[in-house]
Amino acid sequence: MTAFQQHFQALDTWLKAHTRLWQFDTFAQLDNPWRDHYPALAEYLTSQVEQPIEEAFYDEVGRICPELQLSINERNYENSRLSEKRTLTIDLPSYLSTAIKGRKWAQIQAFVAHTPHANNYLEWCAGKGHLGKLLAFEDHHPVHSLEWQKSLCEAGEQEAKRLKIPQTFTHADVLKGEGQEVLANAHCAVALHACGDLHRELIKQAVAAHTASLCISPCCYHLTQDEYYLPLSQTAQQSALTLRQADLKLAVKEVATAGAREQRLKQLELTYRLGFDAWQRTARQQDDYLPVPSIQKNRLNQGFQTFCQWAAEQKGLTDLTSKTAFENFEAIGQSRYQQIQKLEAISQLFRPALEHWLVLDRAMYLEEHGYHVEIGKFCEKSLTPRNWMIRATRT
Ligand SMILES: C[S@@+](CC[C@H](N)C(=O)[O-])C[C@H]1O[C@@H](n2cnc3c(N)ncnc32)[C@H](O)[C@@H]1O
Repeated sequence: MTAFQQHFQALDTWLKAHTRLWQFDTFAQLDNPWRDHYPALAEYLTSQVEQPIEEAFYDEVGRICPELQLSINERNYENSRLSEKRTLTIDLPSYLSTAIKGRKWAQIQAFVAHTPHANNYLEWCAGKGHLGKLLAFEDHHPVHSLEWQKSLCEAGEQEAKRLKIPQTFTHADVLKGEGQEVLANAHCAVALHACGDLHRELIKQAVAAHTASLCISPCCYHLTQDEYYLPLSQTAQQSALTLRQADLKLAVKEVATAGAREQRLKQLELTYRLGFDAWQRTARQQDDYLPVPSIQKNRLNQGFQTFCQWAAEQKGLTDLTSKTAFENFEAIGQSRYQQIQKLEAISQLFRPALEHWLVLDRAMYLEEHGYHVEIGKFCEKSLTPRNWMIRATRT
């Protein structure tokens, strides 16, 4: 067994053993869906008044359920850095990064620092090709950037001309195989934050094209056409886990980083939705979740009752509003909101492991096809939470 396979098996067994804690539909049930299987943990959650995000909360969770401790090892992986492959020009000229936000530019620099030197590069799903631009500037070797949005290709081309760097663009849909020809001639393929199927496709097409080296930072694993996750590697294909798109979303779901106003609105909306859900279950005398369409955020300021009236109209339930009043259900919405925060705090324990599992699947697939593969973080989490890099060289 390779080191990747061993690590994968450990994660897989652990994730499978605790699917109840992370693989459930948040809105489906009124009560804690795993109460009967983890009674002590459920009791502890009930006893917590505040939203649980503190270190002390997780310490106590680990004491109640020692088998959840693996997540602590996974937390150490948050810092497992890949070695750098080059030193960038000190004091890069500011004209190179005009109109690129500071954090994005820092991510790009970190990515390039971890990219091996090559005769030429292919930039997959390039956007305006900022990553390729820095590679071309640093190496003076050709960079061919592929991108599906024509306007981004044009903007990138203009920028390359302005900077007199050897970067060209092709307007292509990589999901339709339109990148294959460029890939066939590429020495090193790079992809920064290529979503779901886009980076999967790169991995599969690069294996078929025998591309010499690959540097990929995957993201948005849930952006895929498949209803259920299709593992790439033979090892992951043996896994007993069945991952839905909602589960793949957990792999990239971070604790809220939105601004205070945005967070307050999100909390208000969720509370109203949960309150309305409790109302409709009582009014319809049917214990099922009923999805309600999205609402303009400024309408939330009109209060819970107005929200419920609107939602009842959307769902054709206005006949029931005179029989069951809305007023008591706002408090139920608030307490369900608190409960969901606590359940999500537990499912968050599995997030790093799930993402690592997905990264390992990609790494093992490349290994199975004759690549030497390294995985690790290419930058601090503060620059981007999607900071895994898969670096592979054909042996
Ligand atoms: C998340 S962005 C990443 C852009 C760039 N690599 C970066 O990090 O700034 C994904 C890019 O993929 C492009 N894209 C989406 N679908 C594509 C397809 N089928 N073929 C090629 N590019 C695609 C999008 O237009 C977008 O620019």
